[in-house]
Amino acid sequence: MMPLPARLKIVEVGPRDGLQNEPEPIATDVKLAFIARLAESGLSQIEATSFVHPKAIPQLADAVEVARRLPAAGGVTYSALVPNQKGLDRAIEAGMRRIAVFTAASDSFAKKNINMTVDESLATFAPVVAAALERGITVRGYVSTCFVCPFEGDVSKQRVREVALRLFDMGIDEVAISDTIGAASPRDVFETVGCVLEQSPREKIALHFHDTYGTALANVLAGLQLGVTTFDSSAGGLGGCPYAPGASGNLATEDLVYMLDRMGIHTGVDLGKVFEASSLIAQTLRRQLPGRQWRKLSAEAGDADPTR
Ligand code: HMG
Ligand code: MG
Repeated sequence: MMPLPARLKIVEVGPRDGLQNEPEPIATDVKLAFIARLAESGLSQIEATSFVHPKAIPQLADAVEVARRLPAAGGVTYSALVPNQKGLDRAIEAGMRRIAVFTAASDSFAKKNINMTVDESLATFAPVVAAALERGITVRGYVSTCFVCPFEGDVSKQRVREVALRLFDMGIDEVAISDTIGAASPRDVFETVGCVLEQSPREKIALHFHDTYGTALANVLAGLQLGVTTFDSSAGGLGGCPYAPGASGNLATEDLVYMLDRMGIHTGVDLGKVFEASSLIAQTLRRQLPGRQWRKLSAEAGDADPTR
């Protein structure tokens, strides 16, 4: 058996990536109750919202209010997406202490998503990241389309490595190598993430998998074998990006926690409590969620089916 880490970090992206694609407006109070339950489950990193243009992501137009009212759960770090200076201004106004900038490894996706090429986005981020760090706000970075771009197809691993390095050069403390449309296989992970790790510190790399083809957990295992110890996931498997055709939800947090628990890897996260959190969103949306553990637990709940 391969050597496994004793513990690892889960970054819960449900309140941001999970909700951003939902067309039906969800009340701010429901989002805050969702976040509070996630915080109670033992998750230590929660991406709470997004300071993007409200027309780009109408669901998260209440970002300032969400951020201002975040539950003061001890030991939880909240973050939010920021695409530019305007986003940083709003995040500062709302009291965020951690932000995440986001670019891609392919220009076509970056243009559609943030109306900038990759190079333009990096030029935009440099002063934003510097200003955040100066105020003691820590910064994560995402690289989208690291494996397959919905517009350009297969993406070069050298390009992914270069974009990650340019983010680290700005002083960003963690880069999330992201499979935006959930198309990667473990072999892609070994090749691309392996290439990134040749020049980037392992402990500063996170893996962000969507689960369109059901390969996300296999990809986590590949990441574990490469020594990565930070993984993103979303309660219930909610999620998707409206600018990435074909993208479905993130890897479900409950499924990730189940697998890691069985492998004896400590996460500090209570699966049942994450299920309670995602069930609140299922009730609100009145539909089943895609996560496997979510479906199993929801079927077991029988008459207490959270979508009824
Ligand atoms: P733009 O139109 O090029 O922006 O959009 P602009 O700088 O030209 O400004 C136009 C107007 O927008 C101005 O207002 C600005 O003030 C305003 P006006 O003067 O015309 O009245 N504006 C803003 N308002 C509020 N907040 C802001 C902001 N910035 C400008 N931050 C922009 C560029 C980046 C803003 C836009 O394209 C955008 O918001 N995109 C976000 C798209 C998005 O959120 N996508 C989903 C998240 S990424 C994702 O899901 C992938 C990830 O999960 C990893 C993975 O899976 O791959 C992270
Ligand atoms: Mg995502």
